[in-house]
Amino acid sequence: MKIFIFGVFLIFTLSFCQYSTQPFKEGKVAYDFYCAPCHGTQAEGLSHLYPGLLDTTYIRSHRTELNNWIRQGISSAQLRHGQTEMPENKKLNDIDIVNILNYCNQQFWHLKEEFQLTQ
Ligand code: HEC
Repeated sequence: MKIFIFGVFLIFTLSFCQYSTQPFKEGKVAYDFYCAPCHGTQAEGLSHLYPGLLDTTYIRSHRTELNNWIRQGISSAQLRHGQTEMPENKKLNDIDIVNILNYCNQQFWHLKEEFQLTQ
């Protein structure tokens, strides 16, 4: 019984360690699933069809709009690159979106301020 309790404790501790070394794990999972098919796992984009997400200056100056873009998509009237619309995504809630944005920030953008739920 003692060994069992110790085992449970160990598993709990180890999983916590893994979580704390990868704080944006949930954001990565969601990004890889919902965004990477178009924007690439390294945010490199896909040829001329889908833009990369590496233009940090553009991201910085539009940080308050990112949430809306992800939720509502980017329609033909708003296109920046002028090729294809970005579809809306009704499956992601506010927490998913903040997780995705903070993962992107940690991996690609390195903006000083993290994204908050209120944005
Ligand atoms: C079906 C393909 C597709 C998916 C999936 C998709 N996007 Fe996009 N995204 C686009 C296209 C196309 C554009 C460019 C629209 C334009 O011309 O302004 C774009 C533009 C963007 C931009 C603006 C970049 C810029 O330089 O103009 C951001 C930020 C972005 N997407 C983030 C995301 C995130 C985060 C996700 C996942 C939640 C996502 N997108 C999912 C196709 C997609």
